Amino acid sequence: MYLFKKVEDLQAYLSRHQEGSILSVGYVPTMGALHQGHLELIRRSKETCTITVCSIFVNPTQFGDASDLDNYPRPIETDIEQLEAAGCDVLFLPSAAEVYPKDMAAFRLDLQGLDQTMEGASRPGHFDGVVQVVHRLLDIVQPSHLFMGQKDYQQFAVIKYMLQQIKSSVQLVRVPIVREEDGLAMSSRNVRLSEIGRKQATYISKALRQAKKDVAEYTLEETKARAVAFLVANGMDIDYFEIVDGDTLQSVSNWDDAPVITACTVVRVDGVRLLDNNVLKELEVG
Ligand code: PAF
Repeated sequence: MYLFKKVEDLQAYLSRHQEGSILSVGYVPTMGALHQGHLELIRRSKETCTITVCSIFVNPTQFGDASDLDNYPRPIETDIEQLEAAGCDVLFLPSAAEVYPKDMAAFRLDLQGLDQTMEGASRPGHFDGVVQVVHRLLDIVQPSHLFMGQKDYQQFAVIKYMLQQIKSSVQLVRVPIVREEDGLAMSSRNVRLSEIGRKQATYISKALRQAKKDVAEYTLEETKARAVAFLVANGMDIDYFEIVDGDTLQSVSNWDDAPVITACTVVRVDGVRLLDNNVLKELEVG
């Protein structure tokens, strides 16, 4: 695996490879502390594209709190080992000065409320930071495909919206959530769960799976009420459980109101915020 820290070195490498051949470049942006979910993005990229580029950059503009940024895990040695084992071709490991040169204006986009709901409600400015960095990184890497995890559904929807707004030709691939055998969505936070909490956490994916069945029989409001009641009955501390238009992220009440409908939830177990979601409806386009 090649490792580049400078934009110009990465770009020189990619353009050498593009000379004379039709090349698809798959890109996986990360902030490091890699787990199975990230490695699945690499796997999907390798399956689809000629070259896979992964970046590790802990983006300061998406953190509201300076201490969260300072405390963000940076296990770079292990990350590199995992990327090599996964067969990633290129790791881009830029400094903040490479990503945000002093003379470069920050990219801004009105997210039309996509950034105000769910995760955005408690993290003002977070999605602006995500949009800013992904826009800049795409400009550097110039990939044909961008691989993002469904686990962070709101982030995926925000980036999809950004790509539409800038009329980008980059193909965005939503990679399904990687789950433990018992259904718990994989996350680096899971190691913070107690033995009891780890078992309780399985109720989250159970509620989401049941919601997918329930929509055949119940209205969306009833489906949501049943899922919330199930989680509460099992002692879960719910931050939110929303059934939303999968593109606008606004609540939907009627099945026919949106082509994509997604149930998104955050539940606290042992004080750890666990995110999960399930796409309840998705009409094929085209
Ligand atoms: O999901 C993440 O790790 C980050 O938000 C991303 C997309 C790499 C942007 O910094």
